[in-house]
Amino acid sequence: MKILITGTGKGLGSGLAHYYLENGNTVYGISRNSNNKLDNFQDFHFISQDLSKFDEIKQRIPGFLMQAGELDLVILNAGIISEIKDLKDCTLDEIRNVMDINVWANKLLIDLLFSNLRSVRQIAAISSGASVYGNRGWNAYSLSKATLNMLIKLYAREQENTHFCSIAPGLIDSGMQDYIYSLRDDPRFSSLDKLKNAKRTGQMPTPFEAAPIVAKSLIKALDRESGSFLDVREME
Ligand SMILES: NC(=O)c1ccc[n+]([C@@H]2O[C@H](COP(=O)([O-])OP(=O)(O)OC[C@H]3O[C@@H](n4cnc5c(N)ncnc54)[C@H](OP(=O)(O)O)[C@@H]3O)[C@@H](O)[C@H]2O)c1
Repeated sequence: MKILITGTGKGLGSGLAHYYLENGNTVYGISRNSNNKLDNFQDFHFISQDLSKFDEIKQRIPGFLMQAGELDLVILNAGIISEIKDLKDCTLDEIRNVMDINVWANKLLIDLLFSNLRSVRQIAAISSGASVYGNRGWNAYSLSKATLNMLIKLYAREQENTHFCSIAPGLIDSGMQDYIYSLRDDPRFSSLDKLKNAKRTGQMPTPFEAAPIVAKSLIKALDRESGSFLDVREME
């Protein structure tokens, strides 16, 4: 298969790219940083791109996509977490920064995929339980992932020859969880306790352990209605 993955620099995107490459697929990776765990694979093609730079994306990504010609799977994985705090304490600029990476870069990439490729069989956006839970403190991140779910649903209505889903990958022991773990306990943000307790237990796999679980869920996703929001924890 030919697979495009955003956010291959570290975390889940790195784990997924490694998993698909080890299984004989060709992977096209986009993130700011290269990744020495992937560089040695002959079938790994990489472009360094900051996904908050929309004008650069429009100039540079079409040529990169055209190398592939068509794609079997696109995993829109790159994402950032917002500082855990109350929404009233978030500036609009902070919210915009998170929305730019977690939502609008994906909108731009989806549009570029359909204008530059012959076909795209499946597009999966990595979402989060935070898109539906609405726990206190998750402010811009929750807003962005809820918007991402709807973005994917709307594109599913427009592009009937491509299967779309947004999917929560479950807890993954990545840089994002390191940030949560580093926070001081605060009774206002009680949802963090569960995450801190899960770290370094079987409930929070490493990105390399999580990758095959997510990849198998993406195959099962093809049997669900295009545009659905799914959660790997309900698909095993
Ligand atoms: N970890 C969890 O428990 C968890 C739970 C639910 C959902 N998720 C979702 O899973 C996805 C992956 O997160 P993760 O846990 O693997 O976090 P992570 O370790 O922080 O990785 C984030 C990835 O996004 C890329 N990225 C961030 N900002 C970027 C930018 N401006 N331009 C290009 N790439 C950028 C990073 O690559 P560079 O730094 O090289 O650019 C990196 O590869 C995210 O969408 C996240 O919301 C994670």
